[in-house]
Amino acid sequence: MKTAFQLSLHFSLLLLVSCYGGDGYDPLQNALKIQRSRRSALNHANNEAHSAEHSTSPVYIGPQDGLKVDDKISSLPGQPAGTNFDQYSGYVTVDPNHGRALFYYLAESPVNSSTNPLVLWLNGGPGCSSFGNGAMMELGPFRVNADNTTLSHNKYAWNKFANVLFLESPAGVGFSYSNTSSDYTTDDVQTAKDSYTFLINWLERFPEYKTRDFYITGESYAGHYVPQLAQLVLQNNKITNQTVINLKGIAIGNPYVDYEAEKTGMFDYFWTHAIISDQIHEGIISNCNFTEGAPKTDACKDYQYQAYTALSNIFPYDIYTPLCSPFSNSTPSISGFDPCTDSYTQGYLNTPVVQQSLHAKPVQWTSCNDFILFNWKDMPFTVLPVIQDLMASGIRVWIYSGDTDGSVSVTTSRYAINKLQTSVKTQWYPWMYQGEVGGYVVGYENLTFVTVRGAGHFVPSYQPGRALAVFTSFLEGKLPTNH
Ligand SMILES: *[C@@H]1O[C@H](CO)[C@@H](O)[C@H](O)[C@H]1NC(C)=O
Ligand SMILES: *[C@@H]1O[C@H](CO)[C@@H](O)[C@H](O)[C@H]1NC(C)=O
Ligand SMILES: *[C@@H]1O[C@H](CO)[C@@H](O)[C@H](O)[C@H]1NC(C)=O
Ligand SMILES: *[C@@H]1O[C@H](CO)[C@@H](O)[C@H](O)[C@H]1NC(C)=O
Ligand SMILES: *[C@@H]1O[C@H](CO)[C@@H](O)[C@H](O)[C@H]1NC(C)=O
Ligand SMILES: *[C@@H]1O[C@H](CO)[C@@H](O)[C@H](O)[C@H]1NC(C)=O
Repeated sequence: MKTAFQLSLHFSLLLLVSCYGGDGYDPLQNALKIQRSRRSALNHANNEAHSAEHSTSPVYIGPQDGLKVDDKISSLPGQPAGTNFDQYSGYVTVDPNHGRALFYYLAESPVNSSTNPLVLWLNGGPGCSSFGNGAMMELGPFRVNADNTTLSHNKYAWNKFANVLFLESPAGVGFSYSNTSSDYTTDDVQTAKDSYTFLINWLERFPEYKTRDFYITGESYAGHYVPQLAQLVLQNNKITNQTVINLKGIAIGNPYVDYEAEKTGMFDYFWTHAIISDQIHEGIISNCNFTEGAPKTDACKDYQYQAYTALSNIFPYDIYTPLCSPFSNSTPSISGFDPCTDSYTQGYLNTPVVQQSLHAKPVQWTSCNDFILFNWKDMPFTVLPVIQDLMASGIRVWIYSGDTDGSVSVTTSRYAINKLQTSVKTQWYPWMYQGEVGGYVVGYENLTFVTVRGAGHFVPSYQPGRALAVFTSFLEGKLPTNH
């Protein structure tokens, strides 16, 4: 009973949280319940709050002179020889009165840095670190080795073709902080505002990027952050007398964008991937209504509980992967990704000399901040209207999905896209990478959907080569190749 209860707690938040190890994370069912009850009151707040931006005054801009030089990383401890690109990291103050500052890490391109685009990357949660997760375990230039002290090159790093900016957002996540602890009770709207203020200030610190092509990317709960920030940028671009940000597009991976699509897609994925029985699946279909405002019945709760119990201790973010355990060698990972990478990263980033070289404050760094997550105030039921706005705005909108993620599954993304009611322009076809099917792609009006075969939730961790191929196609604005 206790075990099953913990599993149910475990999974219900896993769908929102980045967590790499496959065990040991126990988020609370209560948080989602609280969010759900708040959601009914707050789910329309988002668009309205963003519209209200039209009347706000310019954002705070602090002095940035000389800070770029201070932020230059001479080298990271344990960095391998042959590191041929520039890296920077440090803090940007977004609210001087509260003492709130966001931490970033920039990995520039080894070649063509001065012409390559600028790409912002955001991890989700809410509460998870874009630097420790996104940069050090997914798409950044380095991976931490099993000794916790040395790094190796990621030959599929995205900074090969773009200058990649990892932002720890909101304050309280990773190395970002506030001197006003009430700031750690935050929401989608404040997160978008702070990220926007960050960008405006960061572009003063790095003025060479002011007119550069700019893209916003991210995964999981960044399915909220990325569209919301993009919408705020486009709205402010129209009225600002500060920097106009040259936003060209967004790409979101295994994104959480719509509650109903998430729930129905997840349980359908469990059923079609032999995780739950016909009886549990039918029980969910006939007892659960995941539409906004629909009452939750005890029968529905019971069937969901049965589904989480049936899942047992597989890693929902990548259903075929081994867990990080002494026995994990018994089932080699399909992707070759070491499931204990989060532990090495945890060790590395909590080394004082590493924090000093990053210009970070000495803190206990964690992959995800539970306080941020459990106290999240406003989680809209859906961000599909925001995505529709962006699609009509003319910027590039891509959704990609690793197809072995059980948490925000490929099925969920397909249900969400169906709700957007956009028409197919290029029929579904297999795209190829190194002579094999890399996944499938379908081109819609103003939207591209790409799957990545054999990748879990953290696509660039599990299928780095295929992920980089999707990323370069996205930057070029071309569908992935069919040969
Ligand atoms: C937070 O407070 C510390 C100690 O007073 C100060 O050094 C730091 O600059 C403050 N942070 C911000 C962003 O103002
Ligand atoms: C750098 O830019 C040149 C000129 O556009 C291009 O031919 C070359 O392939 C680029 N190199 C890389 C590594 O992107
Ligand atoms: C932008 O407008 C505000 C008034 O709304 C003014 O105080 C500020 O100086 C202006 N900034 C620039 C860069 O022109
Ligand atoms: C689900 O709930 C919504 C909102 O209460 C309602 O409009 C809809 O008819 C319900 N669907 C089913 C199949 O009962
Ligand atoms: C690496 O760091 C993790 C997390 O802090 C720790 O559990 C582990 O023992 C460390 N491994 C080594 C080889 O020091
Ligand atoms: C696509 O964008 C155009 C304008 O750029 C807009 O008129 C059209 O409604 C959009 N369609 C969809 C499905 O988003």
